[in-house]
Amino acid sequence: MKTVTIHTLNDLKRAGEKFPVITAYDSSFARLVELAGIEVVLVGDSLGNVMLGFDSTVPVTMDHMLHHTAAVRRGNSKSLLIADLPFMAYATPNQTLTNSAHLMQAGAQMVKLEGGEWLAESVAMLNQRGIPVCGHLGLTPQSVNKFGGYRVQGRGQDDAEQMVRDAHLLEDAGASLLVLECVPRDLAARVSRELKMPVIGIGAGADTDAQVLVLQDMLGISPRAPKFARNFLAGAGDILGALQAYAAAVRSGAFPQPEHSFT
Ligand code: KIV
Repeated sequence: MKTVTIHTLNDLKRAGEKFPVITAYDSSFARLVELAGIEVVLVGDSLGNVMLGFDSTVPVTMDHMLHHTAAVRRGNSKSLLIADLPFMAYATPNQTLTNSAHLMQAGAQMVKLEGGEWLAESVAMLNQRGIPVCGHLGLTPQSVNKFGGYRVQGRGQDDAEQMVRDAHLLEDAGASLLVLECVPRDLAARVSRELKMPVIGIGAGADTDAQVLVLQDMLGISPRAPKFARNFLAGAGDILGALQAYAAAVRSGAFPQPEHSFT
């Protein structure tokens, strides 16, 4: 695989070619992600759940994110590396700038943050200072206590319209990518059509420009696999084979199927 940049991903969107994204948290798995030719590796704050045993992403700290981001970078020099800003690491624009700079210095090439309109100023500030940004709308797990659980977002008309507005605001502020998590398929399709930047779905149906899964969910080793995940290890034999099968299924449109989506 050639080194992936944001231009690679924009070209894929323009060509109508879907691309896979996967989480990784350490250097051995990150190396397999590169060998499988997966364009984007996400050091998600889901590491709080799957690596550290927390029951949400709220306890994840900048120290955790820096430690795992540096490890992933050491194992993979080709995939575009996105790192999550954890809970309360971007509560103010200045805090966002300082913490994003630390993640970039640890090896990230883009930072991801959860939220809409209220982040526009921070996104613009990062963008102007050379830090690319990935937005995250829909089910934003850091807000689980506000949502009262892990629920599909954007089902009502008002919520859906607000999500579309938020997506445009993030793009206008300079965001380069957007994750949509657990939103109805039609809404994710509309956002993907309306935005120029690539939209990465998880539990958002088959019409987004890319798909992301948590590594442990696609290997079938999470205690409670979400409805939108598929176990790619079961038919693959080994972990590299599972990553290759996932990448091929995303590219061909074979994953996700309707049973992995919400209406
Ligand atoms: O933390 C994470 O792994 C994520 C993905 C689920 C998109 O944000």
